[in-house]
Amino acid sequence: MPELLQIEHIRKTFPGVIALDDVSFTVATGEIHTILGENGAGKSTLMNVLTGLYHPDSGKMCLDGTEVHFTSPRDSLACGIGMVHQHFMLVPAHSVFENILLALDKVPLLYNRKQYQQKIQKIIDTFELDLDLDTEVWKLSIGAQQWIELIKLLLRDCRLLILDEPTAVLTPQETDRLFRVLRLLQEQGKSIIFISHKMREVVEISDRVTVLKKGRSISTLDRGSFDREILAGLMIGQDKIPEWQKNLQMSENIVLDIRNLSVRNDRGLADLDQVSLQLKEGEILGIAGIAGNGQKALAEALTGLKPVTRGKIFAGEVDITHSTARSSYISGIAHIPEDRKSIGIAPDLDVADNLIMKSYKNPLFRRGFFQNRGAIRRNAEDKVSRFAIKTGPDGSPVRYLSGGNIQKVIIARELSENPRVLVALYPTRGLDIGSAEYIHKVIVEGAGRGMSTILIAEDLDELLKLSDRIAVMFRGRIIGYADPRRTTREEIGLMMSGERQDQAS
Ligand SMILES: Nc1ncnc2c1ncn2[C@@H]1O[C@H](COP(=O)(O)OP(=O)(O)OP(=O)(O)O)[C@@H](O)[C@H]1O
Ligand SMILES: [Mg+2]
Repeated sequence: MPELLQIEHIRKTFPGVIALDDVSFTVATGEIHTILGENGAGKSTLMNVLTGLYHPDSGKMCLDGTEVHFTSPRDSLACGIGMVHQHFMLVPAHSVFENILLALDKVPLLYNRKQYQQKIQKIIDTFELDLDLDTEVWKLSIGAQQWIELIKLLLRDCRLLILDEPTAVLTPQETDRLFRVLRLLQEQGKSIIFISHKMREVVEISDRVTVLKKGRSISTLDRGSFDREILAGLMIGQDKIPEWQKNLQMSENIVLDIRNLSVRNDRGLADLDQVSLQLKEGEILGIAGIAGNGQKALAEALTGLKPVTRGKIFAGEVDITHSTARSSYISGIAHIPEDRKSIGIAPDLDVADNLIMKSYKNPLFRRGFFQNRGAIRRNAEDKVSRFAIKTGPDGSPVRYLSGGNIQKVIIARELSENPRVLVALYPTRGLDIGSAEYIHKVIVEGAGRGMSTILIAEDLDELLKLSDRIAVMFRGRIIGYADPRRTTREEIGLMMSGERQDQAS
């Protein structure tokens, strides 16, 4: 296969940070090339260099054998390099068609609507995308919105498509569909750079994998010469991620009693439809379901982010539905979507301040009227080392951290409050495998101390491994429970699609 893109010795630094130290790799025509690396290894920075958003300090980029210098994403687009953004740049109230037209550079003023429509429809048909041009974007799933981003690039005849963690927000079904599309694109001779932390996916889709470690490309492997273990070993630099044993001990004490909880969404429909569940002390209750079936509403209602329309939340015998005590009783961690600036952190504050955001009144961090900076710094040092958070220089704002590392800051903060109940919404999305494993360990250790967790996840392996019980959500309701020691992935899968009610029935 001829090389389309050659990257040689790319280096990119930020004040106090070497994001990319020395990166070299090539992408062939018609190849799916995965960039794999721990959180903060430099993957997103590398993609931003490729698309001209950042200028490298040194190094060389060649396209078709000719050296190129991009000064903006416009330049790279003109050369056929396009990136599918995760924070989709779409106008929610506009239709799919209008959104695609908006992205085009040269739409004639009196454009021939029909002709464009046919052109786009042809792409939709070729790739068997599940997308209707007249639907307004806000009605679409994340997966469908991603198709729009992809179509925009295809209309502009991109030859190299960059996808930075496209599957982090997709359901397993949507991921399968995306992979079918990627293979079709590949058959048409397009090249793809793919980024993901999910090893199962990386092994399935990649022709080659380049491993990044601390800003350096340490090796490139061909299909057939890698598997999950080999890749994990290279990435983390040790052969095996330590495994731990779950200690199944919970009391019969009910710490959270949720009765007929309903939440209506902005459209007046029920996101959460009379959900009742009981959580025992020390229990890890897994919640399975295809995204969009009420999991997010459940997490948001419990952590006070969304108003409860109907129903009650009891802590033991105490009604905390509308009580301010709820926030200290129930703590929440949620995965960070790409517009991470809006949720969970104060983007312009540094790591140390973000870590005490919830406990700034804590006497531990105060000295009379003033903040006790020493204590705040020591707290940060402790969390940063325990959660292996890769930070920039002291005092630099959290928004410069990589996606996975921002995620770790939030988790470290929420867990340090020692909540009775932890609501975890996709807590390991976007985390590298070592970090995900550490979060699992923290949740399980918490259970050992009596913390109860509602673990909302998509990854069935994760749910089966951690949960004492698994509840399955479908269309805003809990449609049944499964016992992780007896059930199978297939059985849960059937329940998730609403085809089976309860494992026992
Ligand atoms: N604009 C910036 N200013 C300062 N530092 C930055 C900036 N962008 C990235 N960094 C730093 O560069 C390093 C690499 O970050 P990058 O986002 O590329 O990691 P990543 O491999 O994509 O990680 P993740 O898997 O968590 O998304 C990190 O230490 C990050 O803090
Ligand atoms: Mg990244």
